[in-house]
Amino acid sequence: MADHLNVELKYAEIEPPMCWQQIFGNPAPVDIEIGFGKCGFLLEIAAQHPTTNFVGIESSRKYYRKGITKVQRAGLNNVKLLWGEAFHIFKRYVPDHSVANIYINFPDPWPKKRHAKRRLLQAELVSLLASKLYPAGCLEIATDIESYLNQIQEIFLANAMYAMVYSHTSTHHGSVRTYCSDYEVMFLQEGKTIYYIKYKRK
Ligand SMILES: C[S@@+](CC[C@H](N)C(=O)[O-])C[C@H]1O[C@@H](n2cnc3c(N)ncnc32)[C@H](O)[C@@H]1O
Repeated sequence: MADHLNVELKYAEIEPPMCWQQIFGNPAPVDIEIGFGKCGFLLEIAAQHPTTNFVGIESSRKYYRKGITKVQRAGLNNVKLLWGEAFHIFKRYVPDHSVANIYINFPDPWPKKRHAKRRLLQAELVSLLASKLYPAGCLEIATDIESYLNQIQEIFLANAMYAMVYSHTSTHHGSVRTYCSDYEVMFLQEGKTIYYIKYKRK
């Protein structure tokens, strides 16, 4: 195991805004995944794209710690992980126009109406992410919840900073992209329909 790999991004060691080139030691583009969970998606996409740098943000301490071990075990030197809340991290630490792609896979659905405000994808976060993406940078989202998809589409429709690239529905892996998250694997095995949606920063 390559446990010497420095995968952790620690706040105490970062003076905001972050300097990606300093953090990764190279000028490659940076992609960010919000809520990486069991880390399967990050491991797959980072292995497929060795000349891109990847940052994973996760609010669960347990998944964050497990993610570090998995990235070290995979020997991926193009991945760094951050433990914390995504909105706060983007607002305080991520430089404007510094991110090539952002991925959000199966954000917690909060299905009860009274909990809808807790959903990650809200107008304020979507605007904040637009300010962090490169011009023409992309935001990819996957969900199995149709009502959440509808809410997401409404938010983006009301935001002049994005144009839709695709909105795709599928019941099998590989129809839209070559990498797969852990929830995606589980839901597809259960025969669920997945909604994939991608927007580009104008
Ligand atoms: C339903 S799970 C999906 C995990 C993974 N993306 C997948 O598709 O397998 C949602 C994940 O997002 C994380 N999460 C929820 N809100 C977050 C936030 N505000 N910032 C960072 N991570 C968050 C949760 O801890 C959880 O691991």
